[in-house]
Amino acid sequence: MDRRRFVLTALGAGTGALAFSRVLQAQQRTAQGALPPMTVYKSASCGCCSEWVAYARKSGFTVKTVDTEDLASVKAELGIPPRLQSCHTVVMGPYLLEGHVPAEDVRKMFATKPKVRGLAVPGMPLGAPGMEQGSPADYQRYDVVAFTAAGAMSVFSTHGPAKRG
Ligand code: CU
Ligand code: CU
Repeated sequence: MDRRRFVLTALGAGTGALAFSRVLQAQQRTAQGALPPMTVYKSASCGCCSEWVAYARKSGFTVKTVDTEDLASVKAELGIPPRLQSCHTVVMGPYLLEGHVPAEDVRKMFATKPKVRGLAVPGMPLGAPGMEQGSPADYQRYDVVAFTAAGAMSVFSTHGPAKRG
């Protein structure tokens, strides 16, 4: 192969690879662009909230945080059922998220568009995203609960170790 032809071939391969990676990037943008950004209401001093925010960003979500010491009002105004309350509260497009909800459940909700107000992980189960502290042997099994504006609740998914004996 002469030098000119080699350069052209290399250039062609390079351009192809570049075009291919551009297509991949565009596809990733579209996949994520389909999801609205989220606003996370949390206490400035909440460590596990910051952990969850870091997890959400790592999972590809666009996250804005609002620190407030009056989360009770935020939860009441948005209509988070008292039984389902946790630490942080999230507004994401038409849906709400309460507590340490896994990213896969958020994606599943936006993909399947259930007629619910949102998803909640009540309490602070050990082992949930942002709650990975201590020994994995102590991780809890927990439900992600879908709730409606009318107050109906159903189990959306279950995570964590299988029940022991
Ligand atoms: Cu928390
Ligand atoms: Cu939190």
